Amino acid sequence: MIDITTNYLGLKLKNPFIAGSCGLTSKIEDIVKLEQVGAAAIVLRSIFEEEILFEAGQTLAEARKNRPIFDYMSEGLDNLEAFAKGGRQDKYLQLIADSKSRTGIPIIASINCVSDSEWISFTERIQTAGADAIELNISMNPMDNSNAEKEKTIISIIKKVQKVVKIPLAIKISDRYSNLSETILKLSKTGISGMVLFNRFFSPDIDIYNCKLVQGRMHSGETEYLKPLRWIALMSNKVDNVSLAASSGVHDANTAIKMILAGADAVQLVSSLYLNGKDYLTRMLSDLEEWMMEKGFFSVQQFKGKACYQQSYDPKIFERVQFMKYYGRIAME
Ligand SMILES: Cc1cc2nc3c(=O)[nH]c(=O)nc-3n(C[C@H](O)[C@H](O)[C@H](O)COP(=O)(O)O)c2cc1C
Repeated sequence: MIDITTNYLGLKLKNPFIAGSCGLTSKIEDIVKLEQVGAAAIVLRSIFEEEILFEAGQTLAEARKNRPIFDYMSEGLDNLEAFAKGGRQDKYLQLIADSKSRTGIPIIASINCVSDSEWISFTERIQTAGADAIELNISMNPMDNSNAEKEKTIISIIKKVQKVVKIPLAIKISDRYSNLSETILKLSKTGISGMVLFNRFFSPDIDIYNCKLVQGRMHSGETEYLKPLRWIALMSNKVDNVSLAASSGVHDANTAIKMILAGADAVQLVSSLYLNGKDYLTRMLSDLEEWMMEKGFFSVQQFKGKACYQQSYDPKIFERVQFMKYYGRIAME
C-alpha cells in the first residue's frame, strides 16, 4: 500500500497537492469539488489588507495617507467602496465556516498584506471561524524600501499575528530580495510553521502595435517551476524546522515529484487547475502513485529531499547561475 500522506504546517495531508489561493478557491461549490477530485487542502482566495482596513472604518483620507497600501495594492477607491458595501469580511468568514462544515480537509485562510497595521486583529476572527491555518501573502513593492526594511516589516507582521492567533502561520514570499537565502533563513526562525516559494505576480506587458500597456500572461508557463525548484533544493535542509510548499509552474505530477525530491512538503496548484480543469488533479494523483510504484517508493517521506542541495551528487549545480561551463563543455564535445 502506497502512503502519499505528507505533513504541512503541522497538519496531516492525505497527499501533497494543495489547491492554491485563486479565484477557484473563493466559492464553496468549487472548494467542495476540489476536495472531491483529490485536493488535500485548500488555500482560500486572499482577502486584502485594504479590504479589512476599509471595513474597519478607515476613511478614504486615511487610506491615502498610508501610501504603501494605497499606491501598491489598491486598484481604485471605487473597488474599495464596492468591497465595503459587499461585506467582504463577513463573507470571507462565512466561506471559512462553510468550507469547514462541507469538507474534511484543512482550510487555509489567506491574507494579502504589506504593513503591520490594524488589519491584524481580523486574524482572530479567521481563527474563530475555524480556519486550520493562515497564509500571509506579503509582497511589497520592489521599488520601495530596502531589503532590511522589507524584512523588518515582515518580521513585525509575523510577531503581531502570532500574538493574536495560535493556528499555524505560513508566509508566501516572492523571490525579490537582494539576499534571498538570508531572508528565507531569517524568516524560518520567527516561529512560523511554513513558507510558500514563490508568489507569482501579475505582470504588465506591452502591446507593440498600439504602444500601450496590457495585462501579461495570467497563468504560469510550464518552465516557471525552475526558480522555486532551485530555491527549495538550496534551502530545504537549512530550514527543516518549517514546512515548504512549492508554488509557481507546478503543472503536472512530474513537476510535483521534482519539488518533493528537492525537499518540498507539498505543492500548490493554480494555473494547472485553470488550464486543465479541476479534474486534472485526480490524474496528477494517479501519476504520482504510478511513479512511486515504478521507483519502489512506498511513502512520500522516502523520496522527499532526495535531490536537495546537500544530497545531490553535484550540489554546486543548484548554485550555478552562469551557462559558461555548460556551453564550454558542449563546445568541446
Ligand atoms: C487568477 C489568479 C488569482 C490569484 N489570486 C491569488 C490570491 O488571491 N492570493 C494569492 O496569494 N495568490 C493568488 N494567485 C497566485 C497563485 O496562488 C499562485 O501563487 C500563482 O498563480 C503561481 O502558481 P501557478 O503557477 O500554479 O499558477 C492567483 C493566481 C491567479 C492565476
